[in-house]
Amino acid sequence: MVTAASSPMIQIDGLRKSYGAFEALKGLTFDVPRGQVVGFLGPNGAGKSTTMKILAGYLAPSAGVARVGGVDVTADPVATRRMIGYLPENNPLYEDMMVREFLEFAADVRGIPTGERGQKIRHAVERCGVGPVWGKDIGQLSKGFRQRVGFAQAILHNPDLLILDEPTSGLDPNQIVEIRHLIKELGQEKTVIMSTHILPEVQATCSRVLIIAAGQVVADDSPERLTEGEGGIVTVVVAPKNGTPLDAGRIRGLFSALPGVQEVKNSDAEGEGTLGFEVRHGKQDPRRGLFEAAVQNGMILLELRRRQVSLEETFRRLTTAK
Ligand SMILES: Nc1ncnc2c1ncn2[C@@H]1O[C@H](COP(=O)(O)OP(=O)(O)OP(=O)(O)O)[C@@H](O)[C@H]1O
Ligand SMILES: [Mg+2]
Repeated sequence: MVTAASSPMIQIDGLRKSYGAFEALKGLTFDVPRGQVVGFLGPNGAGKSTTMKILAGYLAPSAGVARVGGVDVTADPVATRRMIGYLPENNPLYEDMMVREFLEFAADVRGIPTGERGQKIRHAVERCGVGPVWGKDIGQLSKGFRQRVGFAQAILHNPDLLILDEPTSGLDPNQIVEIRHLIKELGQEKTVIMSTHILPEVQATCSRVLIIAAGQVVADDSPERLTEGEGGIVTVVVAPKNGTPLDAGRIRGLFSALPGVQEVKNSDAEGEGTLGFEVRHGKQDPRRGLFEAAVQNGMILLELRRRQVSLEETFRRLTTAK
């Protein structure tokens, strides 16, 4: 028998979900081992929330299986919900309740025994920094505090797995940093799967990135390896040596022929007669060749700067139809 403790935290196998005739998930398959913090990315409508709702036991799949701690979420939603803390998209909360009432209500729904309630609520309130708004109505809270109350609700029963659907959406930059800090802290002891559209957040928080598009996995790696494999972009700025004007088309041809170069585009350059180029390359760094080509062909090299392709550029390449 598979025991909960030895199984991966999440196992998703051939997961499909149709809404009427529309198929939102087209056979998703991935595992998440215990302790990982996974960024779950994809463009609007990719199927992130659908996947998370199925995992959290709030939506039945059309086909395939989702397991949490080795337990099929559809077959045993009660057992799996005990292992899961879920922060849904838009964090729906009861506006008329006081924070205190809401957390007591949430503890009740979770079936936390009366004797343990006070201590569990206190712990969650402390962890999530909810103390200052303890006696306020939820309807009066700022978005940052609402989000903290959502987190407190999600960790009340000390779950092993946190499912966070856009936890920082709509927050100001200061609150984003605070919530990110909280996620990092929680991630030290729990498995976390988090959807977001803020890509630097993923680089700051997650050890793994899963990108889905149109209901299928299109990338799965660490943030570093995802962007490393993409190569980089070299900015080249050249000026004419003897007043002879430069021919951009000829230079693009020269640069394009160098080993490792994938694409050469014109870019902005300041100064009379200067020309700028963005040279996209794969694994091989073409800077040496660019330098020599510039010098040997009567140009003054003003700039030669390489940067790695960003996660944002990788995301765009993987999720936009060519
Ligand atoms: N209840 C529903 N009825 C019909 N279609 C739905 C329903 N819920 C979601 N969809 C559709 O399923 C697809 C996936 O939606 P989902 O909410 O999972 O995407 P998402 O990746 O979370 O997007 P976002 O980044 O905008 O939150 C979308 O095309 C959406 O319109
Ligand atoms: Mg969504």
